[in-house]
Amino acid sequence: MKVILDTDPGIDDALAFILLKAMPEISLQAITVTHGNTSVEKCTTNALKLVELLGMQDIPVAMGATEPLVRALSIAEETHGDTGLGHAILPEPKTQVIQENAANLIIDIVNANPGEITILCIGPVTNLALALLKEPTLRKKIKNVVSMAGTIHYPGNATPSSEYNVFCDPESFDILLRSGIDLTIIPLDVTYQCLFTKAHVARLDSAREDIRTFIDRSTAFYMEFHAEYQGIQGCAINDPLAAAILVKPDLVTFRDYYVDIELHGEFTTAKISADHFNATGKAPNAKVAMEVNIDAFMDFFIERVSTI
Ligand code: RIB
Ligand code: CA
Repeated sequence: MKVILDTDPGIDDALAFILLKAMPEISLQAITVTHGNTSVEKCTTNALKLVELLGMQDIPVAMGATEPLVRALSIAEETHGDTGLGHAILPEPKTQVIQENAANLIIDIVNANPGEITILCIGPVTNLALALLKEPTLRKKIKNVVSMAGTIHYPGNATPSSEYNVFCDPESFDILLRSGIDLTIIPLDVTYQCLFTKAHVARLDSAREDIRTFIDRSTAFYMEFHAEYQGIQGCAINDPLAAAILVKPDLVTFRDYYVDIELHGEFTTAKISADHFNATGKAPNAKVAMEVNIDAFMDFFIERVSTI
């Protein structure tokens, strides 16, 4: 499976990098970086640090959008720390980004591999939206998009009704929803059931020491955020679940929904809504993960990470 990872590392993004390293079923074609959890500059540095930690230097890393399509930039340093990787410390990277920007790299890779590329979006989807705006034919050539995004019934983590990736750039997510691309949405409804705890860290005792240390130190900060801001014990590992589903879709139960997005609500901007009873009469435009086998996912994550 040929995959482009579009990401805003980010602590849970970093766990998705680690899991992708342990999924030989995936042929990672590129890493494209976006604004989101912190600035695109810091996210790009973190992506380069992670490819060096994981020996993925052969994979091109492209820097992408510095800000959303329309709205002002939002970052979440209270959630991911001022570096974006919590308490974890990695060496300054020697690896350089490629010269091409993220949107152009997406266009070039998809044009070179029509019908074969899965784009795993685990941050705001600005890069993908820019690519679709620049090259409208791309929507027919992308095999599918899997996006960690939105929330259906679960409370929002950015506003009471919106999830952070969509909140950062709702106009870009609207473009994705209307693109006609085969779209899978992994919302907070399933990701916030997957709470990674110190007990899970302890189960990583056979993992590579530097990776285990990274996971321990980065998630320690993430757990502090979840406890202080959300009263949750543990941390929701949103992005690794989206990555895992690429090779183990049976971890979740999908429902086909017509999904739309609020762009002008006073209190509900960036809220996505799934038409459960087909009240709109509109055909589904997304496959949405609504239930998850929590233990099966956690076991998968720990078993795979322990193989690196
Ligand atoms: O709402 C969770 C999502 O927003 C995750 O992708 C996290 O990394 C942040 O980008
Ligand atoms: Ca992310």
